[in-house]
Amino acid sequence: MDGENAYLAIVLPRAATAADCQTVAAFNRFFPPGDVYARAEEGKVVICLKQLDFRRLEEFAAARPDELAQEIFRRISDIKSYNIRGGKRIYANYGAERKVRQRKLKEEKRDKVFYARGHNFAPENNAVPPAYANRIICGDSLKILQALPDNCVDLIFTSPPYNFGLEYAEQDDDHYWQDYFDKLFAVFDQCIRVLKFGGRIAVNVQPLFSDYIPTHHLLSNYFLGKKLLWKGEILWEKNNYNCKYTAWGSWKSPASPYLKYTWEFIEIFCKGSLKKVGAKENADITAEEFKNWVTAKWSIAPEHKMQAYGHPAVFPEELARRIIKLFSFRGDFVLDPFNGTGTTTAVAQRLGRKFLGIDIAEKYCEIARARLAGSGEGED
Ligand SMILES: C[S@@+](CC[C@H](N)C(=O)[O-])C[C@H]1O[C@@H](n2cnc3c(N)ncnc32)[C@H](O)[C@@H]1O
Repeated sequence: MDGENAYLAIVLPRAATAADCQTVAAFNRFFPPGDVYARAEEGKVVICLKQLDFRRLEEFAAARPDELAQEIFRRISDIKSYNIRGGKRIYANYGAERKVRQRKLKEEKRDKVFYARGHNFAPENNAVPPAYANRIICGDSLKILQALPDNCVDLIFTSPPYNFGLEYAEQDDDHYWQDYFDKLFAVFDQCIRVLKFGGRIAVNVQPLFSDYIPTHHLLSNYFLGKKLLWKGEILWEKNNYNCKYTAWGSWKSPASPYLKYTWEFIEIFCKGSLKKVGAKENADITAEEFKNWVTAKWSIAPEHKMQAYGHPAVFPEELARRIIKLFSFRGDFVLDPFNGTGTTTAVAQRLGRKFLGIDIAEKYCEIARARLAGSGEGED
């Protein structure tokens, strides 16, 4: 048998009863020890997995209906990352043969993040003036943001008006596209200016598919043109399968099939550096959250309180919670320049971040303030 490092270890916390020990022994008789073996220890059963004929595992689970055998089957079936060789699933070390040699050298040769070369973002950061901390301000963010100093915000999380023709309280939402983008990018110019060196901006967008406007790409092009660094893209899977199948006249024809999307995008960019400075003790994301959330497809149901809030495009708190915990430290300053009913600011407050929320509609700002007043409980 190889050293344990050559195996993928699956730990099943259990009392490791006599019945468990029998299952472990049966398991070890059933499979070649060089492929997979099990160990019963105090308070746990450990499966060391290198490779496996999956049909044999099915046979094992069918032959032994006891709880441990079924749990082993479930846990191994859940692992979706493996290679296949000689009819066996390979679970450990299969990436080794694809390993890139001299990775650093090759990165340098390719010129990593070449599009951001020559940026001249100043590395010195500033504090947000107290008059703007932990506030909801009603007004045009283009104007309000001009009062903030350069380099003072750690994280911007926002969802701009989409220009879909939605019924907002104060704003038309059906502008000539070029005017819409000109105004949006003017606000984002200010956002970039106020972001700290190492700060992040995460923008939730949904393209208008029916107008064939790829808002997420246009927006990403804008940020790259400003020499921000692309941190990544999150797919927010809303699972809303009620969108239409086709435009009339193109059903079941290649003439012009209408593609359906059940998700939205979150585009994330960094100013100056991909790495953010922060004290380790102020990282409040748990290991489990980190593991789940760095897989950049998030399945989260849409917000169900939109009618109650009287706002047509509220995002769910869970979305804000994940973005804020994954991309900022406790005590950081979070800004939402299109704050609507204040989802970002309510969650930021609850998570011990400082915040500023701006929205042009007083009606939404009032809701945002009310949410702050009532949002001290119920969160970690
Ligand atoms: C998609 S909504 C944001 C909703 C918010 N994420 C929430 O959870 O409630 C966009 C918001 O931008 C606001 N808005 C539009 N133009 C603005 C501007 N120039 N300055 C500030 N807010 C603006 C609208 O009133 C609207 O509430």
